[in-house]
Amino acid sequence: MRILVEKNYEAMSKRAAEEMAAVIKEKNDCVLGLATGGTPVAMYKELINMYENGELDFSKVSSINLDEYRGLSGDHPQSYRYFMNTNLFNHINIDKSKTFVPNGLAEDAEKECENYDKKIEELGGIDIQLLGIGPNGHIGFNEPDEYLNTRTHLTKLEETTIEANARFFDNIDEVPREAITMGLGGIMKAKRILLIASGKNKAEVIEALASGKITTQIPATLLQVHPNVTVIVDEEAASLIK
Ligand code: PGA
Repeated sequence: MRILVEKNYEAMSKRAAEEMAAVIKEKNDCVLGLATGGTPVAMYKELINMYENGELDFSKVSSINLDEYRGLSGDHPQSYRYFMNTNLFNHINIDKSKTFVPNGLAEDAEKECENYDKKIEELGGIDIQLLGIGPNGHIGFNEPDEYLNTRTHLTKLEETTIEANARFFDNIDEVPREAITMGLGGIMKAKRILLIASGKNKAEVIEALASGKITTQIPATLLQVHPNVTVIVDEEAASLIK
């Protein structure tokens, strides 16, 4: 695992965008595994800048996202489909029919999950998976637990996750309690993984991620056995690494 420490959020975002851009330049029909949340917003802005400057072409790129809230439609402003459209897809030349986010309204959630894993295979696997990390160590919505799922699945969100995400909603009662998330298998099969984190509230979990120990109670620690992981953090998030 390669850990790069950048001065602040802006520098972290620039560096992460360069890592993503390198993959797109090397393979113009690559499959990007994408993430939502507060952390990647500036990185997506950087990618949009690179596209506008003529540095990047997304016309052959496909993408597949980690997760979606159960019960939100793609046009709900807090859905992850809406996030991806407004923070990235609407501003670049990606073919939206080649961008995939779980359907939060699927009647048969189990079938939706099964199809999502098939979709990853059909795409030929993920070239680079972008990840944020929850203060509780979740990646996607793989929440801490005794057992973790390898496959895409419907999951209940932890109270701490609901609290952390409430800032995006009018009030905490509006935060969905369930989500569909890619499992640890889907994430770990990506050829490369890029995890980004910023701020003091991520310092403890980043220390755990760099500890050399693995526990399902901090799902991100599993990444330590993946052969190609880059972690880009700002100084605050890196402050407890020994
Ligand atoms: P954040 O979320 O980027 O909003 O901190 C990260 C995550 O929960 O995975």
